[in-house]
Amino acid sequence: MRIAVLGHGVIGRHVCATLEASPAHELKWILERPGLDTEPKMTSDVGKILSDPEVELVCDILPGTHPSYEYMKMALEAGKHVVTVNKAALCFGFKELVELAERNGLFLRYEAACGGTIPDIAETLKLAQTNEIEAIYGIMNGTTNFIIDKMNREGAEFEPTLREAQRLGYAEADPTADLSGFDVKNKIIIISNTAYKCYCTSEFPMCGIQHLTKELLDDFARQGKTVKLFGLSVRRGNRYAIGVAPVVLPMTALEAHVPTNFNLFTLRADKAGEIKLYGQGAGGVPTADAVVRDITAIAEAPARTGEAYFSRPMVYDPSLLFGKGYIGGTVKEGTLDELCRQALAAGQFLAFEPDNL
Ligand SMILES: NC(=O)c1ccc[n+]([C@@H]2O[C@H](COP(=O)([O-])OP(=O)(O)OC[C@H]3O[C@@H](n4cnc5c(N)ncnc54)[C@H](OP(=O)(O)O)[C@@H]3O)[C@@H](O)[C@H]2O)c1
Repeated sequence: MRIAVLGHGVIGRHVCATLEASPAHELKWILERPGLDTEPKMTSDVGKILSDPEVELVCDILPGTHPSYEYMKMALEAGKHVVTVNKAALCFGFKELVELAERNGLFLRYEAACGGTIPDIAETLKLAQTNEIEAIYGIMNGTTNFIIDKMNREGAEFEPTLREAQRLGYAEADPTADLSGFDVKNKIIIISNTAYKCYCTSEFPMCGIQHLTKELLDDFARQGKTVKLFGLSVRRGNRYAIGVAPVVLPMTALEAHVPTNFNLFTLRADKAGEIKLYGQGAGGVPTADAVVRDITAIAEAPARTGEAYFSRPMVYDPSLLFGKGYIGGTVKEGTLDELCRQALAAGQFLAFEPDNL
């Protein structure tokens, strides 16, 4: 299969190196920045790549929503399969990109966009063939897990721990997307779409860990509990609820012991029961491997028929996700949606203890 890679950063470089070493694939083009396109395969002209009839698959490894979304759309319009790692761009145009791929008999795969190397999307697709998936939840962001884990183990304050995470490369210079829950929001939408075979809404509030303090973690520790940032999603029939919040966990929960920047996804299905997937949600080599697994799956798949996978009519019903919310020293009962809105309005930390997960 002849492949073009858009983006030559941390992940892109590892994907290119693996493709170059693989006899099964041919790396035809690499999109680089102007001035950095120093090798024959490199170009800064995306038009040259997308109009090349020999390119069969485009691998989107760019950051941010734009122009990544537009490039994926152009690639699918030009009859090329797409593999993406870019959760922001995928979430932004999920329905449009999926429908375009389906109309043109092409594959759009996105394992690495949700959980790095963890095969959560592959497992979700497999489970959904024979099961109704009823819930998805867990630790889906390594940066926030690194911060909470370090604060828990060393009794450290939030700000110096964040600075250390930045120094070690676990947090970006602008950590907003991780701390606010936006990164998890994109991931829980993408995996819920895949599990429930529908297009889930993005119109729900999210709470992150910006207001987390050492005192708060100490309070929970005295009760034999801790807090981890979770993506949460539940489904009953044709209704679903979805959210992002710090969740209160007993210290006996597996998630309470997930170290450093690791992730732990749980899928609950009607026949298979509970399945937990643990691994590295980021990092150059592991994430690049998930990209190459997607490329290989496309190369080995029979031609795609035009079936619509994401075709279920589903309704967002926030009443399905409810429990206790610890907000600024008070405990309230409600749906996660309501509790998030209250915490956001008050500018305070929310710790959510679900009743029904
Ligand atoms: N890093 C991870 O562990 C990880 C895990 C899962 C998913 N992802 C996703 O993977 C994607 C890439 O992440 P990364 O860590 O590889 O980022 P990165 O190291 O910043 O690489 C992105 C590369 O794309 C280049 N680029 C940006 N816009 C471009 C454009 N319009 N034309 C040509 N080149 C352009 C950047 O150049 P400049 O530096 O000059 O801007 C940079 O070289 C992101 O969507 C991220 O969310 C990353």
